[in-house]
Amino acid sequence: ASPWMPSEMSPFCCWGLPAALLALLFCPGSGEEAFEVYVSPEQLVVKHGEYSEINCSTSCLQPTVSGLETTLSKILLEKQPQWELYRVFNISKDTVVYCHFTCSGKQLQRNASITMFYPPEPVLLKLQPTWVTVGKVFTMECRVPAVAPLENLTLTLLRGQEPLHVQRFEGATAAPQEAMITHNSTAHKEDGRHNFSCRAELDLQPRGGGLIQRTSEPQVLEIHEPMPDNQMVIIIAVVSVLLLLFVASVLLCFVFGQQWHQRRRGNYGVQAAWRRLRRSYRA
Ligand SMILES: *[C@@H]1O[C@H](CO)[C@@H](O)[C@H](O)[C@H]1NC(C)=O
Ligand SMILES: *[C@@H]1O[C@H](CO)[C@@H](O)[C@H](O)[C@H]1NC(C)=O
Ligand SMILES: *[C@@H]1O[C@H](CO)[C@@H](O)[C@H](O)[C@H]1NC(C)=O
Ligand SMILES: *[C@@H]1O[C@H](CO)[C@@H](O)[C@H](O)[C@H]1NC(C)=O
Ligand SMILES: *[C@@H]1O[C@H](CO)[C@@H](O)[C@H](O)[C@H]1NC(C)=O
Ligand SMILES: *[C@@H]1O[C@H](CO)[C@@H](O)[C@H](O)[C@H]1NC(C)=O
Repeated sequence: ASPWMPSEMSPFCCWGLPAALLALLFCPGSGEEAFEVYVSPEQLVVKHGEYSEINCSTSCLQPTVSGLETTLSKILLEKQPQWELYRVFNISKDTVVYCHFTCSGKQLQRNASITMFYPPEPVLLKLQPTWVTVGKVFTMECRVPAVAPLENLTLTLLRGQEPLHVQRFEGATAAPQEAMITHNSTAHKEDGRHNFSCRAELDLQPRGGGLIQRTSEPQVLEIHEPMPDNQMVIIIAVVSVLLLLFVASVLLCFVFGQQWHQRRRGNYGVQAAWRRLRRSYRA
């Protein structure tokens, strides 16, 4: 807004640049906000015993010192002035790693968290007994021998597609642990037509991973329909009595028939002998 502004501007401009350079040379702290450090990915989810790659990068054009701090085994795969790619391996527990760069005497670091997991496999389902009468109780037992982290695991017992029982777990250790549930259920007539299974889900999405799903082999239940007890007893009793009567009557018929036959034959024998006797007397 003033006509003398341009004349005032030029001396400022001519003094400004050397002043800025002087400030950079004598006050290293002034470059603090001038660069950034990045790590990619910031959250890693790695299967037990597997390896992963980490890219450390910076906006600093010519960093003097750089590196990845970790207790894990690492190798530098590729290095450029503004980034370095590492492979970390032999991951056996949850850990944090740091990328660092030094620019103009100032060091910045950025960390990345590594979550180690054991996939939920195998998933073992056992039905006990496998042969069950309608109305009786059977037990479903689902077991995952080694899985981690347990706190992100859900086990679901299924009849066909229908969930019968859902269980979540607690425990934050990275060491693999056994997860097991048992559930008692009453046998229904239609249970024999469905497959029973157990589904394990390890949800690592909040930690930067995925959803790992495994399902057990399907198991079948043999359903037996009972006869009501007293009805069964009556039927058995009636059948036994009828059978006895039948056997008895057959036996009686046989015995009486034999006796009658013998008596008749006996009579004939006596009559014949008598006749013979009378004939001999007459003679
Ligand atoms: C590492 O990250 C930097 C910055 O994002 C990128 O330019 C570079 O291509 C990445 N390197 C690899 C190997 O992905
Ligand atoms: C991984 O660690 C084990 C012991 O912790 C070691 O014996 C093995 O050599 C390591 N493997 C690699 C590839 O470094
Ligand atoms: C990792 O970095 C975050 C943010 O910079 C920080 O809050 C956290 O304390 C760091 N963790 C470790 C173990 O250094
Ligand atoms: C997984 O575990 C983490 C750490 O305890 C927890 O914050 C998160 O809510 C869990 N996520 C799921 C989906 O269970
Ligand atoms: C299931 O039933 C068995 C025997 O019938 C019993 O020992 C067990 O405690 C029951 N389990 C549950 C979870 O109810
Ligand atoms: C049960 O599982 C078996 C084996 O996987 C399969 O062949 C059969 O179709 C399944 N039955 C039902 C009702 O899903």
